[in-house]
Amino acid sequence: MSSKVEHLQRIFLNIGLLLFTGTLMTMPCGAQQAAATLNIQIDHPAHPVSPTLYGLMTEEINYSYDGGLYAEMVRNRTFQDRGFGGVAHWNIEHLGTSDATMSVDETEGPSAALPHSLLIEIKQADSASLAGVRNEGYWGMALRPNTNYKGSLYAKAGSSELGPLNIALVNDNTGKTVASTTVQALSTEWKRYEFSLTTGTIATSSENHLLLTVGHAGKVWLDLVSLFPPTYKDRVNGNRPDLMEMMAAMHPKFLRLPGGNYLEGDQIDERFDWKNTIGPLVDRPTHRSPWNYQSSDGMGLLEFLEWTEDLKIQTVLAVYAGYSLKGDHIHPGPALTPFVEDALDEIEFATGDTSTKWGAVRAKLGHPEPFPIKYVEIGNEDWFDRSGSYEGRYAQFYKAIKAKYPQLELIATAPLKGMKPDVLDDHYYKRADEFFEDVKHYDTVDRNGPKIFVGEWATREGSPTTNMGAALGDAAWMTGMERNSDLIVMASYAPLFVNVNPGGMQWESDLIGYDALNSYGAPSFYAQSMFAEFLGTEVPVSTVQGGGPRFFYSVTRDAAKEVIYLKLVNASSIAQSIDVEITGVNSVDKNATLVTLDAENLAKTNTITAPTRVAPVKSAVKITGAKFNHTMPPYSIQVLELHAK
Ligand code: AHR
Repeated sequence: MSSKVEHLQRIFLNIGLLLFTGTLMTMPCGAQQAAATLNIQIDHPAHPVSPTLYGLMTEEINYSYDGGLYAEMVRNRTFQDRGFGGVAHWNIEHLGTSDATMSVDETEGPSAALPHSLLIEIKQADSASLAGVRNEGYWGMALRPNTNYKGSLYAKAGSSELGPLNIALVNDNTGKTVASTTVQALSTEWKRYEFSLTTGTIATSSENHLLLTVGHAGKVWLDLVSLFPPTYKDRVNGNRPDLMEMMAAMHPKFLRLPGGNYLEGDQIDERFDWKNTIGPLVDRPTHRSPWNYQSSDGMGLLEFLEWTEDLKIQTVLAVYAGYSLKGDHIHPGPALTPFVEDALDEIEFATGDTSTKWGAVRAKLGHPEPFPIKYVEIGNEDWFDRSGSYEGRYAQFYKAIKAKYPQLELIATAPLKGMKPDVLDDHYYKRADEFFEDVKHYDTVDRNGPKIFVGEWATREGSPTTNMGAALGDAAWMTGMERNSDLIVMASYAPLFVNVNPGGMQWESDLIGYDALNSYGAPSFYAQSMFAEFLGTEVPVSTVQGGGPRFFYSVTRDAAKEVIYLKLVNASSIAQSIDVEITGVNSVDKNATLVTLDAENLAKTNTITAPTRVAPVKSAVKITGAKFNHTMPPYSIQVLELHAK
């Protein structure tokens, strides 16, 4: 099976191997807008490019983890989601003459964190007429041929006569068992059981369910029923490989976690309470996400940190700062102290060595190595807090964190009157034309103020994932961020993920879409990947004259690699001619590389069934040297990689 990385490489390279090796001047003819003249002074560096400019932002929204990145296949595994008068995503299976009912028993559970469970009361069952329950998964269960699925569950039998528990994966359409196993005898006390299911030569499909049955009358309680496919880097309780590989293909430098609104929760007791998200799954009570579903918290703090480790990127750790979305807040002062201490403990859990209290907890959970963290964010979008408490809350967190961790850079989520934060987090959700208008936003911002983290931004056009129009808005905005990357230290698009099944989306215009089986990138995904891959290390002085109103560019250079990256955006329906002149170098190689993302119209997009309608094409091209003309196609985003000494 070819991996997603190979798949993406194919898009970038092999599609590009429909390579033309032509000259840049033989581009499409037809109407053109006013030519642009672009002068690039390589020997006049304006400023360095922030090496951490492009990263990822994440939270539990749009079934990002449950039903998304977190590879768990069983939906509502701890039965908190009650659905309409029942137990959501679980159903009684009526086979033969069996007779059984199911309900949530609030008095029986395997742990203090999970004090309830699913009770199945079987009035009639035998080996020919099994009774039990089935789980439908997150819009199905993706099964692949010759693959091992690892499961576990907690169970308690009403009596020792109940007999074995049968576990099977069953095809929804044929009713055929695809893989099966048996737990021989269930204890009459709560106990954890592990099992393994292996498929044979089946067709890959997500139209499958999990079936748990017994062949004897009696009672059985179940909890934390779990099933995992092979995960990225074989992590236990790990992530979907395809989605991890897609993120890797974005060349990110950091992950902002765990939100977003998800950090805050609607109410204070629905915040991301990190201490409830570590340790064995049976000790995690789960909690409600502000995006209106229960979070399993299988993606807990340690799993977030391991995600950054697997992608070899930095963590931008957002700590809960005493404000929740529906407006409740904790006053600065003694009432806030426990929350500040929680944040200090959280930083220690992530960064402390094993001699520290929370570093030792992390080591006990299997990760003795501390995680390197440079940035800690205090809250999320605290401009929503109309009480005016953020100044005081930020100051209290700042003082305590800096006292213990002076090396950390602290990010404020709203402008402050009384103090200058190290970094300020700005968020932008706009239409493409608004981004075109605002592309010079940071050109004139005071360089003596805080550094900027554009912690959430996106062109909101297209649903569930963005279209080419949005990608053009994004690319234009990114030219502005690169030009100002002396000020902007980091930027992350949001939201990153969406499960495209009906009911999976709470927020439109997302970057990566998926169902149980497949995933794909929006045109915006490719625009970002192109910008991040060809980042460069410094911004040379450049000037532009002429050009259409929706022509944008950014130029960066990597002196060590002797390359110049010219990023060009033509958000017009007609071609754009550009006369480029590069000064301050001895020579510019006539052989260059061009990556093009373009579309016939703004609405063109990718979908789960047509995942690469809009995808980059890489071409070898010839230029005439330090002075050349280049014509951009309509609706295009291009990166021209030039070799200059
Ligand atoms: O990205 C979706 C939401 O937008 C985030 O949770 C929140 O921070 C912002 O308002």
